[in-house]
Amino acid sequence: MEQKIKELRKRAGDAIKNSASNLKELDEVRVKFLGKKGELTGLLRGMSQLSAEERPKIGKIVNEARAEIEQLIAEKNSQLKAAELQKKLASEKIDVTLPGRKVHDGHLHPLTLTLNRVKEIFMSMGYSVEEGPEVETDYYNFEALNLPKDHPARDMQDSFYITEEILLRTQTSPVQARTMERHKNSEPIRIIAPGRVYRRDDYDASHSPMFTQVEGLVIDKGISFADLKGTLEDFSKKIFGEKTKIRLRPSFFPFTEPSAEVDVSCVMCHGEGCKVCQGTGWLEILGAGMVHPDVLKMSGYDPEKVSGFAFGMGIERIAMLSYGLDDMRLLYDNDVRFLKQF
Ligand code: DAH
Repeated sequence: MEQKIKELRKRAGDAIKNSASNLKELDEVRVKFLGKKGELTGLLRGMSQLSAEERPKIGKIVNEARAEIEQLIAEKNSQLKAAELQKKLASEKIDVTLPGRKVHDGHLHPLTLTLNRVKEIFMSMGYSVEEGPEVETDYYNFEALNLPKDHPARDMQDSFYITEEILLRTQTSPVQARTMERHKNSEPIRIIAPGRVYRRDDYDASHSPMFTQVEGLVIDKGISFADLKGTLEDFSKKIFGEKTKIRLRPSFFPFTEPSAEVDVSCVMCHGEGCKVCQGTGWLEILGAGMVHPDVLKMSGYDPEKVSGFAFGMGIERIAMLSYGLDDMRLLYDNDVRFLKQF
């Protein structure tokens, strides 16, 4: 018996030392020797066959063996735990000297950049910036601009109606009437009104049901068509370059008389004729005219005492021309590969 225990002690010691290479294996060794059905427990069971003198002696040896094995297991256990921790630390090591991952800075959208530039130019000429609601009444969007309910020119702007009297504004021109009413015929007006407008248009390379306009309005004593032309020429040179020329063609808008479409010399070919200007050398950029006397009257101004000019341009068009874009949808798709270029 004594011999058996000695031999068991040795085997257990070897197993703990050599074959338990992780915590799971160590536990298997523990079960094998000390578990309920383990070898040492088996030996204890055999003690019933021993004589009364032998029993305490052997019992003592078995207990010593158990204590020793337990001790070895505990030591190995803490060794393995330390090794595992070491391994984990090594695998999670961070090299603080590696270059960091770059966070990409965002920047303003090309439409915002263009709008900011347009604002800057007009502000440098003494204009202030006005805003108006995008959900507008029929009165400001049409009637106050000399477009009564049955006016055929309303057809030019297919609209999103919310009720009979309320719609998404089709143009920034309603800010004209709103501003004139607020100024109550007191001081001169020199404003631009940027903002979104909505029309029941298709979404293609040159149309979108939502786009951005900038309206301009100047009212004072003695404002003439020459002031309008000079202002637009100055603006065009500042936004498209000093060499830019402008051309005015007669047109119709219900809220201006006379009215004009304004073209700039092609930004690509400078008037030679190319694909962008379809061989004409000119590009249309805005509508303008002298504020109609009825529009002045409706908003409380006396057309005998003051006169004014107005204009309206699409910012998408200005952005497309200044950046050489051939598809308006690029401005709305939010494709980072496109946006990164500005
Ligand atoms: N509101 C016009 C449009 O959306 C643009 C316009 C033309 C505005 C002439 C004006 C103007 O102020 O005088 O088509």
